[in-house]
Amino acid sequence: MAPLLPLSRAARLVGVARGSLQKKIRDGELHSFDGMVAPEELLRVFPGTHLENTAELDRVAQIKDRAFGKRVFERALPDKEVLAARIKEIGRELAQSRAQLDFYRGIVERLGGRLKDMAEKNGGAIMAEEIKEWLGQELGEGMDAVPATLAVRDSYLRVMAAQVKLLPSNREFFVEGNDTVLESALRAGVPLSYGCSSGNCGKCRAKVLSGKIKYLRPHDYAFTEAEKARNYALLCACTAVTDLVVEAGVATRPADIPFQQISAKVKAMDTPRDDVMVLQLIAPRSYRLRFMSGQSARVTLGGSLGAELPIASCPCEERLLQFHLRRLPGNLFSDYAFNRLKVGDTVEVEGPKGDFVLDDESTRPIVFIAWGAGFAPVKGLIEHALSLEAAESLHLYWAAQSEDDIYLPNQCRAWEDALDNFRYTPLVAGAVHSLSEGQRERWLRPLLQRVKDDHPDLGEYDFYIAGPDPLADDTRHLLLEWGAPEGQVRVGNFG
Ligand code: FES
Repeated sequence: MAPLLPLSRAARLVGVARGSLQKKIRDGELHSFDGMVAPEELLRVFPGTHLENTAELDRVAQIKDRAFGKRVFERALPDKEVLAARIKEIGRELAQSRAQLDFYRGIVERLGGRLKDMAEKNGGAIMAEEIKEWLGQELGEGMDAVPATLAVRDSYLRVMAAQVKLLPSNREFFVEGNDTVLESALRAGVPLSYGCSSGNCGKCRAKVLSGKIKYLRPHDYAFTEAEKARNYALLCACTAVTDLVVEAGVATRPADIPFQQISAKVKAMDTPRDDVMVLQLIAPRSYRLRFMSGQSARVTLGGSLGAELPIASCPCEERLLQFHLRRLPGNLFSDYAFNRLKVGDTVEVEGPKGDFVLDDESTRPIVFIAWGAGFAPVKGLIEHALSLEAAESLHLYWAAQSEDDIYLPNQCRAWEDALDNFRYTPLVAGAVHSLSEGQRERWLRPLLQRVKDDHPDLGEYDFYIAGPDPLADDTRHLLLEWGAPEGQVRVGNFG
């Protein structure tokens, strides 16, 4: 039997999201062994898999890039030395496999002769022929079918990308092009520990348990003799030449991330509506903000005007930070942002704060309900969920007073168009903010009935609700009343 495949690699080989494989495993359609899948089993469930189907893999990668607004063509081939080392490694494995194949072929041939001898001696020629035929068939299937499809494709993918497995978390991701291990982890939504990102502080150091790395960047951090002996590496400075197993800590809760202060530059200021600004900041290469999607940060403009705002981007965007600002005439922060701030200005950012973060251990389908500007943290969570590829499906409801208040409808439609497992439903709520408590509840019930009708068994989903205090909390109460488990409903109060 060919070696078992980790779930991430299996998903790549057949060109589907990891969440889709997890769903098939949960539904009993695909059998797995300790989180791994046998190639034969994968071919049984995806019989149409051919090497030529790499177009499907490219399509998925492009969809993700489009969804995150990244430039697809920025992706480069791996460093030529890395490429050469990967080809050499695969060549070595190929030679080893050939030797094994010859060995088994010899055994089969000898077995055939032996069975024939036995049949002649014992008068059981028919039975021996049957066994021989059966053996030939089995070996034909085992040694031809798998290499012809999955194994060939696997070799192709391994030249282009190496897989990294982190212990003890068992998180997996791929290193592509000239990316460092750290960059690849962040892009895949894996919150590895790091500090300077430039090889000085040593906070990204981790023990490489197996596989080969190559340093792409110079680094000043000096390893101790004990660290050298235990094969420690700086993940911000090296790439993966072969598949790696690395012992490294990942942030699993907001408390794992230290409070930081950075200076960033204004990269873009878009105004999808007159009273809304999408502010894009870019952090310096060596002082990025570490945060978890859905958290907030304090933004200070002009040296003294500050406001705490949800971060609308995902750590997978690396140095980019996005905030959504409302025009509030008379508010000094808002007036400065809309009237005086310009591209290239320096902005101070402090954070992160808050615990409205994704449960990235869960593989349940996710429902997001954003009230008005509560879309900002939800956008970060959606991008994080997309980079993880763990959730089986995502459904976004964006509720606002009027259709005009849904200020980035094209972004939501683009996700829906590009991703098979993403649904978007706008909800026009009217002047719900101005109602009294009792009236509001009566108003919300029919509006949110849509969520219940779309997802009759609320216990099967994770819910993330973001918005101003009474609306987000009222939404939570209704969902709990309708049967959503308390531990699966998370609320972020953003005014
Ligand atoms: S993050 Fe500072 S050395 Fe890697």
